[in-house]
Amino acid sequence: MRMLVAMGIFTEVGHHTYSANLIANVWTVGSPLREASIHMASQIPPVVFLPEYFEEKGYRNPTDAENGPFQYTQRPKIQSAYNTMMRIARNQRGEEWFEYYPVEEKLRLAEHDESGILLVDIGGNVGHDLVNFQKRFPGLRGRLVLEDTPAIVDSATDLPPNIERVGHDFFTPQPHILQNAKAYYLRNVLHDWPDKNARTILENIRDLMGAESILLVDEYAVPEENVALYQAELDFIMMGGYLLRWIGRVVGVHRPRDYVPGSGTLFEAVGREE
Ligand SMILES: C[S@@+](CC[C@H](N)C(=O)[O-])C[C@H]1O[C@@H](n2cnc3c(N)ncnc32)[C@H](O)[C@@H]1O
Repeated sequence: MRMLVAMGIFTEVGHHTYSANLIANVWTVGSPLREASIHMASQIPPVVFLPEYFEEKGYRNPTDAENGPFQYTQRPKIQSAYNTMMRIARNQRGEEWFEYYPVEEKLRLAEHDESGILLVDIGGNVGHDLVNFQKRFPGLRGRLVLEDTPAIVDSATDLPPNIERVGHDFFTPQPHILQNAKAYYLRNVLHDWPDKNARTILENIRDLMGAESILLVDEYAVPEENVALYQAELDFIMMGGYLLRWIGRVVGVHRPRDYVPGSGTLFEAVGREE
């Protein structure tokens, strides 16, 4: 409903109460336009892949019914486009988390030793956030680690050599080498998954956390009502740190000074006390 309100199809008349605008009739059961929308949506995937398909086939008419645009599936180029998109998406954002979160104090930058892990970016894609973090705090002590799936970390060819890479599936127990980092950072990862999967991701991270470790979850948190379209598209509801109870305790919620629809909210959690 948040999306439909932000798109003008419904009006939010009260808390969790909505009224349909005239345009909503287009999508009601029985409307021919609804059927047309469903049909057209089914045609989108092959059309999206047409430029690539024709490039590969030498711009010739398809003649093989078994090997036409419909059978053309995901290609590595699409993954590379996704990675680029992850980087571009940040242009929609306000301040970076490390500008409004007191990094020096919380991550104890001055006291950190060279050999310990300072920050692990889990689901960090090709490492763009770690690169920016390193630029912002030159001369950092402590190791920076990028974790993503093996295929993604292998594709992170531009990564500075001092950022370590770990190819790992975060649904499986985390590797011991990542234990006791000062901070684990998850940006725009949990909103991709249903709660039960998010729980597995969080529990695996919890098993790495030492008494001094912090978990930082950077997400597009949505307000209770009248959510902007961008937030609705990427919404993440974290009522009172509901998901983070699987880690331990939420100790802070941080927001940028100038909050714009694309701004993240940083949830800070610590592990369970034994
Ligand atoms: C929405 S992207 C967020 C990327 C980055 N944190 C950012 O904010 O730009 C989600 C990331 O999770 C990674 N991912 C998905 N499934 C994974 C898995 N099973 N194990 C590790 N990483 C995974 C994806 O490869 C992708 O880089």
